[in-house]
Amino acid sequence: MKSQKIGDKELFGIGIGTMPWSGSRLWGYGSKLGLAEAREAFDAAVAGGVHLFDSAEIYGFGKSERAIGQILRERETDGVVIATKYAPLPLRFSPRAFHRALDRSLKRLGLPSVDLYQIHFPGGRIDLATLMHAMADALDDGRIQAAGVSNYNESEMRRAAKILESRGHRLASNQVEYSLVHRTPEGNGVLGACTELGVTLLAYSPLGRGLLTGKYRSGNAPIDWRKRIFTEEKLALATPLLDAIATIANAHGVSSSQIALNWLARIPAVLPIPGAKNAAQAASNAEALSFELTDEEDQRLRQLSTAFMNEKSFGQRA
Ligand SMILES: NC(=O)c1ccc[n+]([C@@H]2O[C@H](COP(=O)([O-])OP(=O)(O)OC[C@H]3O[C@@H](n4cnc5c(N)ncnc54)[C@H](OP(=O)(O)O)[C@@H]3O)[C@@H](O)[C@H]2O)c1
Repeated sequence: MKSQKIGDKELFGIGIGTMPWSGSRLWGYGSKLGLAEAREAFDAAVAGGVHLFDSAEIYGFGKSERAIGQILRERETDGVVIATKYAPLPLRFSPRAFHRALDRSLKRLGLPSVDLYQIHFPGGRIDLATLMHAMADALDDGRIQAAGVSNYNESEMRRAAKILESRGHRLASNQVEYSLVHRTPEGNGVLGACTELGVTLLAYSPLGRGLLTGKYRSGNAPIDWRKRIFTEEKLALATPLLDAIATIANAHGVSSSQIALNWLARIPAVLPIPGAKNAAQAASNAEALSFELTDEEDQRLRQLSTAFMNEKSFGQRA
């Protein structure tokens, strides 16, 4: 069974993104989920063997973290690993702002310490060294167990890893967009650096924000704001890739989503964190490692994915 490390913890090879649990239509891709759906998705993920739950302070401005905190309080949660993120937004340039934000996240989560704390994106005016030293201080005082970054390019993640190393710590993860419709980490050095440095690549939007599930097709765009990124032209261009995914899914008796996640999870260093809106999606995603893609299938998917991305530059924004 594929697993990945975060800090000293060995995790199941698929995690879950809790952005839709933010009670907001924006983060929930059109759905305004309540605690009941989040609770059911949480339980289904745990039942499926999932360890890693990814959140962020900005998902619903704390609502995703609050939902997790409530759910954790209600049950035994042995083995569950919680990740959240600091947003280095304007007016939050100081280490003081970082430490206050961390304390607030811990309060919402109801935890004395979080398993993985990530910098959500490179901070415009707060320098990387300041953030990494603040991370190291939080590792030293035990409020975080592992330090990660997100949306960092290769040189940023290498610098982050070096600074943490100078403080006796390791960079645990870099969370970036990666899927069959967005393979930028392969070409920009991030995947290579993760492999070389032993940093786990947490792949966000691994289902292409729903596109790779196969339910959005030419003539059947989503009805929420994603219709602006899943244009008719793009859906038509994705047809050969989506058809191949469906054919391979049929051959294995699984779903298109599971093919997309399995393809990604096969890559060493990569741990996909698909978002799930309900128990059925969470359970299905957790099952995505229950079969083996053949090398031929892997190659076919790579070929069609490359063709899709080369077709138009907007492939890079999938
Ligand atoms: N660090 C960052 O900057 C960043 C940015 C974005 C996301 N993230 C993280 O990555 C996680 C996942 O990314 P994402 O939510 O953008 O995209 P995703 O995982 O590619 O797609 C998730 C969406 O696909 C649909 N779906 C999921 N599982 C399905 C299944 N089994 N069958 C059918 N449909 C299914 C759901 O929407 P519908 O049912 O409505 O189609 C769901 O909201 C987020 O929750 C968040 O934790 C991080």
